[in-house]
Amino acid sequence: MTEKPAVLVTRMLPDAVEARISRDYDARLNPDDRFYGPDELIARAEGAAAIIPCHTEAFTAEVIAGLPASVKAICNFSVGYNHVDCEAAKARGIIVTNTPDVLSDATAEIAMLCILGAARRAGEGGRLVRSGEWRDWGPSFMVGTQVTGKQLGIIGMGRVGQVTARRARGFEMGIHYANRSRLADVTEAGATYHETIEDLLPHCDFLSIHCPATPETEGLLNAERIALLPDGAVVVNTARGPIIDDKALIDALRSGKLFAAGLDVYNNEPEIDPAYRELDNVFLLPHIGSATFETRDAMGFRALDNLDAIVAGVEPGDRVA
Ligand code: DGY
Repeated sequence: MTEKPAVLVTRMLPDAVEARISRDYDARLNPDDRFYGPDELIARAEGAAAIIPCHTEAFTAEVIAGLPASVKAICNFSVGYNHVDCEAAKARGIIVTNTPDVLSDATAEIAMLCILGAARRAGEGGRLVRSGEWRDWGPSFMVGTQVTGKQLGIIGMGRVGQVTARRARGFEMGIHYANRSRLADVTEAGATYHETIEDLLPHCDFLSIHCPATPETEGLLNAERIALLPDGAVVVNTARGPIIDDKALIDALRSGKLFAAGLDVYNNEPEIDPAYRELDNVFLLPHIGSATFETRDAMGFRALDNLDAIVAGVEPGDRVA
């Protein structure tokens, strides 16, 4: 009987996913879901043919250089892969994959939650009720900005951006977008394409960010660009924290330039800029865009489909490096 390849799984995955990994591989699971730092990651990968990590593990050039020669693949349990230095992986001949498509619905749900939560002051309202400080009701009490019929700008009209646009149309929102390239008419579905982000921003009562985190998109939403948004706009980020310049966003939330923000992702998670915690007009979630039972199973199976292909010597469906 041939030995099953060893696979290091860095975090606890859904039961059905772990059952499949254990059936098909010599699975090194993490039942305590303990975070592995760089040294432990390298040590635990000894003899493993592949690693299934999450975005919580940073595969910097140093970590990749330290990985044992046995590691031939990093099959991410995530669509985002900015935590992996893909150039370093390529240089070592390590294949990198991600899990696109399967989390678009779940992430678009969280984008809508952020749009609604920020606009209608859901974080502030929830805190008021829980604190026992809610005393009265009046016409000027907890008034927010309406979502229905407003203009939504989307930066990055890929899979998640497109689903968010479809959901937002249910709120009769007008859709504007900026993207590397214009979508086909049928996919665009009446949305207005803007060739540059600068052209897009003045049209956005709401701005939702859906582009990947890359060196080019780091700090993309900065003070100059926020200034181009209409006064009282709402900014939502469910993509990755580094796309926003925190100081610029916090200043705009403090000054009232922006009415509110809804954030699911942050720079340096979970050690976020503490100023966010002090601001009433920001609706905060702890990076739960893909956190549904259905989606987490689907992400795991997709990561395993990629791994199975690599082990079989076939090109994986979701190769990113
Ligand atoms: C993703 O898949 O990129 C989610 O943000 C979770 O990592």
